[in-house]
Amino acid sequence: MAILIINNKEYKVPDGSPIADACHQEGLVFDCNTGVCGQCQISVLEGAENLSGLTDEEKDLGLDAETRLGCLCAIQKGTVKITF
Ligand code: FES
Repeated sequence: MAILIINNKEYKVPDGSPIADACHQEGLVFDCNTGVCGQCQISVLEGAENLSGLTDEEKDLGLDAETRLGCLCAIQKGTVKITF
């Protein structure tokens, strides 16, 4: 079980699960869900190493390990703290 903290609210989620559901619950706007629009951008405050690797879409947008797309990230393990 992994812990995802979004704007200081904690979610327990299975290891390897996408973070999109929890982000939706916190009100993050998703438009395309495919890494094109960039509306779901998040800031990773802690635990960037516990997220899935940068996708080609994120690299194309010039993002890095601390600035990701909520629609494409999965939490692999441990604790990740994000905000948007
Ligand atoms: S919802 Fe469009 S890039 Fe994530």
